[in-house]
Amino acid sequence: KQTITVGLLGLGTVGSGVVEILHDHKERIQHKTGCDVTIKAALVNDPSKKRELPTSSTLLTDRHEDITNDPDIDVIVEVMGGIDHTFTILMEAIKNGKHIVTANKDLIAKHGAELFEACQENKCDLFYEASVAGGIPVIRSIMDGLSSDRITKMMGIVNGTTNYIMTKMAQEGVDFDSVLKEAQDLGFAEADPTADVDGLDAARKMTILSILGFSMPYQLEDVDVKGIRGISLEDIKYAEELGYRIKLIGIAENDESGVSVSVEPTLLPIHHPLSSVNDEYNAVYVYGDAIGETMFYGPGAGKLPTATAVVSDLIAVLKNIRLGTTGTAYVQPQFPTQVKAKQQ
Ligand code: NDP
Ligand code: HSE
Repeated sequence: KQTITVGLLGLGTVGSGVVEILHDHKERIQHKTGCDVTIKAALVNDPSKKRELPTSSTLLTDRHEDITNDPDIDVIVEVMGGIDHTFTILMEAIKNGKHIVTANKDLIAKHGAELFEACQENKCDLFYEASVAGGIPVIRSIMDGLSSDRITKMMGIVNGTTNYIMTKMAQEGVDFDSVLKEAQDLGFAEADPTADVDGLDAARKMTILSILGFSMPYQLEDVDVKGIRGISLEDIKYAEELGYRIKLIGIAENDESGVSVSVEPTLLPIHHPLSSVNDEYNAVYVYGDAIGETMFYGPGAGKLPTATAVVSDLIAVLKNIRLGTTGTAYVQPQFPTQVKAKQQ
């Protein structure tokens, strides 16, 4: 049996879920991978804060070098969020030969190209299933399950916080600010919830899906984005009276005129399947030339669903380590290397 040592970056909602799943499913993971997993250290803002620790011997640190430079650490699980600072830390880790699992869509949408290139050069894995639609294995389905098809369109609800807000406003008449606070308390929202509310989080996820699904580069800056801030209880009530439900819908299409991606509040007939996707749940339709229509549905945010995707990625890394095939799991996705200004 091989022991694989993990360094966690972040021990908040998702990080504590990762700890819980690795503990509760220890034997199952051993059985599936032939590996024992230990968490040697976790990076946090405040090491003095009281929290459930993986084991009494886990180091809590606010110095990322304690993790990125530790030769014992094989895999870094990044669940702290942030973009440029986190990118710098991960690049340092990759240069030190660490495999990466991340839940960070902001990072992947902006720096995916550089991260993949560094991983390829250093023979490291990079997995990011939790970055889109939380616990739903939609990235793996697009990359593996549907890889023989030509995907033409992806559409759905990819942000749990806004879906939770819209659901509670519609069902309970709760005002926007108090239900946003609830979504934050439940651990669904981003550290800066304006990313959820203004549609940027959904735009980042649709950008990642487009790059993977259509196998071509696409810039976040080209997404047409509108969030839910302008939607009032009155709007929701009138829509319901007319037989519609308002949902924040992401659509990515690839046709003769090229790729177009948008995120905006949309009126859906009340009997449309997406109208009954409630709370923090997400659903993504994927259309392919050969398969026709498929739909992926499940919890799109939250501690254990998201951690399930993160730990499944970790298991993929463990299997690659055992097989000696790290860094080669997928053809490198075409994340764009240059951010260009959006054309008006
Ligand atoms: P939290 O805010 O709950 O946790 C963040 C953790 O990272 C905390 O432990 C915090 O330390 C630590 N941290 C943050 N910034 C730094 C820093 N600069 N230096 C050191 N430590 C830091 O976030 P979540 O767990 O909700 O989210 C983590 C990531 O997962 C994000 O990228 C998010 O987008 C993604 N994600 C989240 C989902 C969810 O449902 N929550 C779903 C899918 C993806 P401390 O505890 O001391 O504050
Ligand atoms: N804030 C995100 C959401 C977390 O609400 O969907 C999951 O990516």
